[in-house]
Amino acid sequence: MSLLDILIAPDARLKQKAKPLSGVDGRVARLMDDMLETMYKAPGIGLAAPQVGILERVIVVDVTDHKTEKPNPIAMVNPEIIRASDDLSVTQEGCLSIPDIYADVTRPAEVTVRYVDRDGEVRTLDAGGLLATCIQHEIDHLNGVLFIDHLSSLKRNMILRKMQKYKREHGIA
Ligand code: NI
Repeated sequence: MSLLDILIAPDARLKQKAKPLSGVDGRVARLMDDMLETMYKAPGIGLAAPQVGILERVIVVDVTDHKTEKPNPIAMVNPEIIRASDDLSVTQEGCLSIPDIYADVTRPAEVTVRYVDRDGEVRTLDAGGLLATCIQHEIDHLNGVLFIDHLSSLKRNMILRKMQKYKREHGIA
């Protein structure tokens, strides 16, 4: 397995729509493993393929508390929300592509997601709480949407200016 480089916003590749995959072959399985390793190392609770410069519909998530629970990595190909609750929840979100920035985002509290797993099987998952938030955040990435796109343009532009400064300071192109 190998660690992947995570793109930092603003980056044109984070604003593009990712392509669906026809299935899971060795390359895609390896991508999932590398993404999980990269996510755990960061550390983060979710990662989408566009964040490592790959415009394909692949996400990985694990929202377990590593101090008290066993890891529960979930890797999804072509994830699709097939049901969302009317109930909304507000969660403070962050993103590995937007370091050190956190903001409240409102999303459906519960979702049902259909996806293809690492073995190529179609699965359905009912998610609530942090898992529901995380899955929606990662699926957004596949559509070129960042969590700051859910904020007011005033807040978003302020964050993007901070990020430009961050990139300059860290020598990121
Ligand atoms: Ni993110």
